Amino acid sequence: MNCQGCHRESGRGAPPEINSVIDPVRATSVAVITERMKKSGGEMNKADVIELAKQSKALLLLRLHKGGQDMPPPVLREAEIAAVFDYLEQLSGVPGAEKKQLAVKEPIYRVGEQIVKATCHTCHDAAGPNPSPQTILDGAIPPLSSLTARVSLAEFVRKVTKGAPITMGTPPMSYRGRMPVFGQLSEDEAAAAYQYLGAYPPISRR
Ligand code: HEC
Ligand code: HEC
Repeated sequence: MNCQGCHRESGRGAPPEINSVIDPVRATSVAVITERMKKSGGEMNKADVIELAKQSKALLLLRLHKGGQDMPPPVLREAEIAAVFDYLEQLSGVPGAEKKQLAVKEPIYRVGEQIVKATCHTCHDAAGPNPSPQTILDGAIPPLSSLTARVSLAEFVRKVTKGAPITMGTPPMSYRGRMPVFGQLSEDEAAAAYQYLGAYPPISRR
C-alpha cells in the first residue's frame, strides 16, 4: 500500500521517473543470480554470488529505511519492513518466496495512513482553505483536511473506488471531475483512509 502509489501494483513503476522495483529485488537472491549466471554462460564462485546478493539486500534494506534520491523514506516499523521485503520477493518471482510470507497485524488507521500518504498526498495538500465550487472549477484540489467535512464516508468511498461527480462552478453544477479512480483499492481500504483522516486531521507543515 505504501509503495504502489508510485510503483504500481505490479512493482514495475513508471520508468524513467519511477524505476521498477523488480530487478533490485531479484538481485538480492542467490538462486536468481546463480541462474542468471548459468544462462549467460558466465561463471562465478559461490562465495562471490553470496557476497553480491548480500550487498544488494543491504541496499534494498537501506532504501526501505531511508528512501532514495527522489523517493521519500517509507517510515515503516521493523516488522513491516520484514513483511514488505518478503512480499517484494514474491512479487518479483524469487523462488520459494511464497512460502515465507509474514503477516503483520495493522490497526485500521495505519492502513489508512499508508494509503493517504502514498496515494492521495501526491495531488491533495495536507491542509489549507476549503475551496469553493468556483475555485474547484478553476483547478483547485480540496486539501486532505477538508475531505471528511466535504463528503460522507459513503461518498468518499465511491469517489475513490468508482468515481463520483463533484459540484463546481457558478452557478454550482455537477461534473465528472478530474480525479482518477483507484481500482486497486478495496472499499474497506478507502474507508480506512476516511477513518484515518477523521481521527488524525492533517496539519500543514509549511
Ligand atoms: C512517492 C513515490 C514513491 C514511493 C511511495 C515509493 N517509491 Fe520507490 N522509488 C521512487 C522513485 C522516484 C524512485 C527512483 C529514484 C530514486 O531512487 O529515488 C524509486 C526507486 C525505488 C527502487 C530502486 C529501483 C532501482 O532501479 O534501483 C526500489 C527498489 C524502490 N523504489 C522500492 C520501493 C518500495 C519497496 C517502496 C514502498 C516501501 C517504495 N519504493 C515507495 C518513488 C517512490
Ligand atoms: C491525480 C490527482 C489526485 C489523486 C492522486 C487523488 N485525488 Fe482526490 N481529487 C483530485 C481532484 C482534482 C479533485 C477535485 C474534484 C475532481 O476533479 O474530481 C479531487 C477530489 C476529491 C474528493 C471529493 C471532494 C468533494 O467535495 O466531492 C475526495 C473525497 C477525494 N478527492 C479523495 C481522494 C483520496 C481519498 C485519494 C487517495 C486515495 C485521492 N483523492 C487521490 C485529484 C486527486
